[in-house]
Amino acid sequence: MTILATDRPTLSSRLREGTREEHESAESSGFISRLMSGGLSVDAYVALASQQFFVYSALEAIADDVRTLPQGSSLLFDELTRTPSIARDLEHLVGPDWRAIVMPLPATVRYVEALEASATSLPRYAAHAYTRYLGDLSGGQIIKRMLERHYGLGPEGITFYSFEEIPKSKPFKDVYRERLDGLELDEEQLAEAVAEAKGAFRLNQDLFADLGAQHC
Ligand code: HEM
Repeated sequence: MTILATDRPTLSSRLREGTREEHESAESSGFISRLMSGGLSVDAYVALASQQFFVYSALEAIADDVRTLPQGSSLLFDELTRTPSIARDLEHLVGPDWRAIVMPLPATVRYVEALEASATSLPRYAAHAYTRYLGDLSGGQIIKRMLERHYGLGPEGITFYSFEEIPKSKPFKDVYRERLDGLELDEEQLAEAVAEAKGAFRLNQDLFADLGAQHC
C-alpha cells in the first residue's frame, strides 16, 4: 500500500497525543486540583491571574513578529486576545494600583523568556498558542465554573475565561486545528512544535509549583 504524504499525522493530532501525559500532570498538579476542589482561597486565584497577566502579555506582544512570518497570520485571532480581560480582572480583584503590586514569579519569568524566544519560529509559536488558547477554550471553561462555585467569583474578576466573541468553542477549536494543520511544516518542524508544546506544559507545571509553594 502506498503511504500518501497526506497520511502523515496532522500537527493538531501530534500536539494532542504528544502532550497527553503532560496534560494529565498539569491537570492533577497540587495547586490546580486544590484550586478546583475549593481547597484554596480567592487569593490563590488572584495569584494565578496575576501570573497569567505576564504570560499573556508576552504571548500577545509577539503577535506583531509572528505576523511577519510566512503563514504567521493564520494563527492570529483577535477574538482570542486575553491581556485586556486579565487587566480588567486584576483591576477588580486587586484594585486600581494592581500594576504596581503584581510581580512575576521565577517560573513566570522563564515562561516569558520561552514565549519571547518563540516569536521568530512558527512551529514554536504554534506550540505556545495551542497550549494556552485551546486549553482556555477547553479545560478553562471547567476552571471558570469551579471558580464560580467555590469562591463566589464572577462575572467580574473572571472575564479571562469568557470569550465574548467566541459563542461556541467547538467550531472555533475546529477552525483553529485546521489552521494548525494547514501550516506548511516539514517533519523536523513538526517535531519541534511537539517538543515545544511539551515544554510549554512543563512551564505551566513549574508555575503551578511556584504558586503551590505559596498557597497550598
Ligand atoms: C483543571 C485543569 C484542567 C482541566 C479540567 C482540563 C480539561 C480539559 C478537557 C476536558 C479538554 C478536552 C476538550 C475537548 O476535547 O475539546 C482539554 C483540552 C486541552 N487542555 Fe486542558 N484541562 C485542564 C488544565 C489544562 C492546562 C493547565 C493546560 C495547559 C496550560 C491545558 C491545555 C489543554 C489543551 C491544549 C487542550 C486541547 C487538547 C486538544 O484537543 O488538542 N489544560 N482540557
